[in-house]
Amino acid sequence: MATGTTGGLLNAEPLQSYLKHQLLRRYIIQFVQKLAHGTDDPLTLVDGYAGNGRYDDGTPASAELLLQAAVRSLPGRVRVVMVEPDPESFGRLHEVAEEYREPLSGQLEVLGTRIEQAWDRLVSDAAGRHVFMFLDPCGGTLSMDQLVSFLNRNGRRRYPRTELLINFSGFLVRRVSGQHAAGYELRASVLTDMCGGTWWKDLVDEDQVEHPNSYENSFTMISAEYARQLNQRTGYATVAMPVRARARNQPVFYMVFATANPVGLWAFNDAAARAQQDWLVQEDLVTSPNQPSLLDPDETVLGMSKDEARQVVHGNVLQMLSKTPRIGPVRDHTFGLLDGAFGLLNETEIRAELKAMRADGLIGLQTAARAGQDVITRPS
Ligand SMILES: C[S@@+](CC[C@H](N)C(=O)[O-])C[C@H]1O[C@@H](n2cnc3c(N)ncnc32)[C@H](O)[C@@H]1O
Repeated sequence: MATGTTGGLLNAEPLQSYLKHQLLRRYIIQFVQKLAHGTDDPLTLVDGYAGNGRYDDGTPASAELLLQAAVRSLPGRVRVVMVEPDPESFGRLHEVAEEYREPLSGQLEVLGTRIEQAWDRLVSDAAGRHVFMFLDPCGGTLSMDQLVSFLNRNGRRRYPRTELLINFSGFLVRRVSGQHAAGYELRASVLTDMCGGTWWKDLVDEDQVEHPNSYENSFTMISAEYARQLNQRTGYATVAMPVRARARNQPVFYMVFATANPVGLWAFNDAAARAQQDWLVQEDLVTSPNQPSLLDPDETVLGMSKDEARQVVHGNVLQMLSKTPRIGPVRDHTFGLLDGAFGLLNETEIRAELKAMRADGLIGLQTAARAGQDVITRPS
């Protein structure tokens, strides 16, 4: 008999994973479509902590989402590599992957090892190719030094593209922060390696003064600083996006994204905004299954309504135009335009605000085939 919210399925998709997967699915399709034909060698998608590949009810998990994106390209143009050391998960993953071997012209590898053991080969096999690396551990992951040298693999050249999406785990950070505050340092070195230094301890110590015995705030601060350090050490644009199990809960983890490419950043914002919208609908269905929808269309998990986000963009555009006569294409100015509202408005919604500003005579706007190519000017 069905029990609980999972309907009796031991392996069903929790809400935080729903958001993670919507984000991954939406972003990776754009990445593959844009780049599958960009280099002689096939681009590489890596799922470094792959899990089972698919849920018991048939819902695709991360590995199958990568496989699905790969088969939407011409055979042989995308290579998918998955890593999963747990024998049971590896068996299930392998079964899912085999369904895709032929459509992918054999450009598929499933490794039954820990990623630490496979890392050097993963990086050298991806040399000269665009690569998207998804790292989704349950706790600790590779060191900051390893990730920095991976992102800097082409020196100052940013081509072929190198992108990372990391699950930065609240479970690990809260637990280790709590141990640190209590004077134990059991897993501290794991977090220190991941963070590339002991700076996280200073953040915990500072925050304990204001929030004793709570690690929510320090988790948020450490996640933001983690993304900032990745940016500082690579020059890549980085983003830390909170992922919750319920709208009003604290984040379970942050998805940290790194790209050196303006188009990648614009596309990630679009994927994040759409994924959050998908998630709000799903969260409402799961938490209030027998009630009329309580969903406020303006509500978002980032604490700002769509209208407020449009106001933020409105203000940013006017401020940017006071300093420069031309902003374009807009996709080269994602952080400037969305400062304070990243991940809240998809590209259609951003364009709608720009068109409203043009109609009010506040800006000039040349629209293009794709919203990211629009150009904003001062009004004539
Ligand atoms: C959170 S689950 C992955 C979920 C999956 N990425 C998804 O979205 O459906 C983490 C997985 O990492 C695996 N794992 C644990 N340690 C690992 C390591 N050192 N290297 C690679 N995978 C590891 C675990 O067995 C587990 O299946």
